Amino acid sequence: MNYDLALVTGATSGLGRALCYALAQRNISLIAVGRNIQKLQLLAKKIQTPIRIVQADLSQLNQRTSLYALIQELCPDLVINNAGFGLYGSAIKLPLKLLQEMIQVNIQAVMECSIEATSALKKAKKPGLILNISSAAAFFSYPNFSVYAASKAFVYRFSEALDIELSAYHIRVLTICPGQIATDFRKKASQNFPQKPDYFTLSCEKAVRLIIKQISQKKRVKIIDLRYRLMIFLTYFIPKSFLLPLLQRSLSKRYRKNS
Ligand SMILES: NC(=O)c1ccc[n+]([C@@H]2O[C@H](COP(=O)([O-])OP(=O)(O)OC[C@H]3O[C@@H](n4cnc5c(N)ncnc54)[C@H](OP(=O)(O)O)[C@@H]3O)[C@@H](O)[C@H]2O)c1
Repeated sequence: MNYDLALVTGATSGLGRALCYALAQRNISLIAVGRNIQKLQLLAKKIQTPIRIVQADLSQLNQRTSLYALIQELCPDLVINNAGFGLYGSAIKLPLKLLQEMIQVNIQAVMECSIEATSALKKAKKPGLILNISSAAAFFSYPNFSVYAASKAFVYRFSEALDIELSAYHIRVLTICPGQIATDFRKKASQNFPQKPDYFTLSCEKAVRLIIKQISQKKRVKIIDLRYRLMIFLTYFIPKSFLLPLLQRSLSKRYRKNS
């Protein structure tokens, strides 16, 4: 992969951290963005290529604005909008503030970061690639995961369209839609409710390999892996009146129902 400087959001855990290691192995310099400064410092210690760590809570507009100034200054030619989180439970029972933060991180930050990175690359007349992490949940109206699934549907639709808009500038915008990956995502989404292992869960290493392959092939949209592609395809033949309650039930043992 031929990139000079990669920016990765959500670099403090899971997929984002693993992507930082994978890019560093390919001698790509890094801007690692995260909320937790200790975790970012630990990452920087373990990485051999030049790395700049940036502490930013992406749910906060002023912190996002500082990040965008840095993007304009450093002009990364690979941007991975990875930071994101979900929450299981009915939207009317979850704290509104957390749902608003989810929209800020999963939608606002991804949209703004994509546009800021694009404008920096255009000004510098440089080619570049933006990879936005959506989810297999983007393909469904998902009861008890509604705001998250809708936020990832935004990421998918926005990124796919932006890729076409930018075709004249040698800037690509790719979207990846993973199913379950073995990270802390579910633990956080369930607010620490114990999670059972699941046949459909992909290892973080495999997810990173597939993401790197997508970047190399510059494939516009990719659902990982084959099992999820098949599952999503099959759901087109199931009536929604049956499918939506089924999706709701699929989450019923994943979180504590407090009221
Ligand atoms: N794991 C899955 O099953 C799965 C499936 C489909 C899509 N995804 C998507 O994959 C991406 C990576 O998630 P993951 O699986 O690696 O989960 P993860 O281990 O929980 O990592 C999420 C990352 O996002 C960061 N983040 C959350 N809120 C933030 C905020 N306000 N400001 C800055 N950073 C914030 C987290 O930082 P902190 O450490 O500070 O919380 C963490 O670094 C997410 O966009 C997620 O929606 C995951």
